[in-house]
Amino acid sequence: MGGCLHKPLQQDCSHYREGAAVLELGEGFFRPDSRPSRDLSVLIAAGLRQGGAQRPQRWLDLMAGCGIRALRWGLEACADEAPLLPELWVNDADGERGPLLQRNLAPLTAFGERVQLRRLPAEVLLRQAYLDQRYFDLIDLDAFGCPNALLQASVQALAFEGVLLLASTDGRSPTGHDRPAAVRRFGAAARVHPASWEIALRLQFAALAREAWLLGRGLQPLLAFSEGRTFRLAIRLRQHMQPKEEHQLGLLARCDACGAQAIQPLLRLQGWPPCACSNAGGRWAVSGPLWLGPLQNQSFLQDLRRLGEEMPASVAPATRRLLERLSADPGLPPTVWPTAELAQRLRLPGPPSQLDLVTTLRAQGFNAFGSAVMAGQVRTDAPYERLLQCCRNLDLEDR
Ligand SMILES: C[S@@+](CC[C@H](N)C(=O)[O-])C[C@H]1O[C@@H](n2cnc3c(N)ncnc32)[C@H](O)[C@@H]1O
Repeated sequence: MGGCLHKPLQQDCSHYREGAAVLELGEGFFRPDSRPSRDLSVLIAAGLRQGGAQRPQRWLDLMAGCGIRALRWGLEACADEAPLLPELWVNDADGERGPLLQRNLAPLTAFGERVQLRRLPAEVLLRQAYLDQRYFDLIDLDAFGCPNALLQASVQALAFEGVLLLASTDGRSPTGHDRPAAVRRFGAAARVHPASWEIALRLQFAALAREAWLLGRGLQPLLAFSEGRTFRLAIRLRQHMQPKEEHQLGLLARCDACGAQAIQPLLRLQGWPPCACSNAGGRWAVSGPLWLGPLQNQSFLQDLRRLGEEMPASVAPATRRLLERLSADPGLPPTVWPTAELAQRLRLPGPPSQLDLVTTLRAQGFNAFGSAVMAGQVRTDAPYERLLQCCRNLDLEDR
């Protein structure tokens, strides 16, 4: 697929500018709209550098395309005075990308031989790195389709406290639209759910957690978001698991007839309670095992926002908005309802204001947040009947 197909017509394919990078896009895949994910990777790299600049780091752009991420890491995340530059490993299996990558990475002269260009299948590079005991502090895995076949090798090549940025464009299997593929790729049930992007992210975290746990390592989610086409998340690999980390894996059930939802950690799995259907006619559709824990790490996001203030040219307005949104919603609890669905079920003339609903639920002592993952959705641990009652009351107040 030609890269220019993904760009506005007026855009010049020969010299694309983003952050401090000016580069050629070539004929391969490139999406200007993915800039927020690249900006975040620059901020994450800058944060890693600030946190561990006393020792040389190693960063890997595993599926580099035109090399824009690695180039921006080198130009923007390493623009400080610190003498130790990281090793930058830049890889793309498409051999035809080689000359383009070489031209695009030429501005990184200060790195000298610390830029390592490879044209290997990702699995080969990762396995070789493991055999050579070469561990990466940052791996960016920007895959086409589902990346799960590469997860074990990626986790094995990640340093302790290292960060893995993961992208998946497999939108069908984790959203309930290809259930056999969800079983094959995630070892999980994926059912259609109005918060389908969040379910997809939770299934992805679960797949990663299992790979980390198999190695006796722990997993800390840092951030997660989607625009419905690509599912992106970042995790930190911990040398040890946190106490009760396994409690974060569980099942999420939803009754399509009444809209009730329920969760259970696998470790405390029992029968499901009745849903809210009056005639017991409801039936839970169960998704999982998936990650029931937080999606976003608030202090990590605070650090990224601070870095964004220090590096304004690295942060597009859309990225700044994304960071604000993610900072306002930890991604807990995992039960999320669209306000439009609640209004429809109650036959209200329109959905309640998200802000009013969150405020009301909090005033009653429940956890409640506007979802940062999908617009117009409310996340809460309020019992379903209370949630519906709050919507009714808000509607009455509006009249
Ligand atoms: C989504 S694009 C990367 C986009 C780039 N990271 C960016 O931000 O613009 C995916 C790239 O991965 C490469 N690729 C696909 N499968 C691969 C594999 N198994 N190993 C290494 N590279 C691969 C493709 O050639 C393509 O350039």
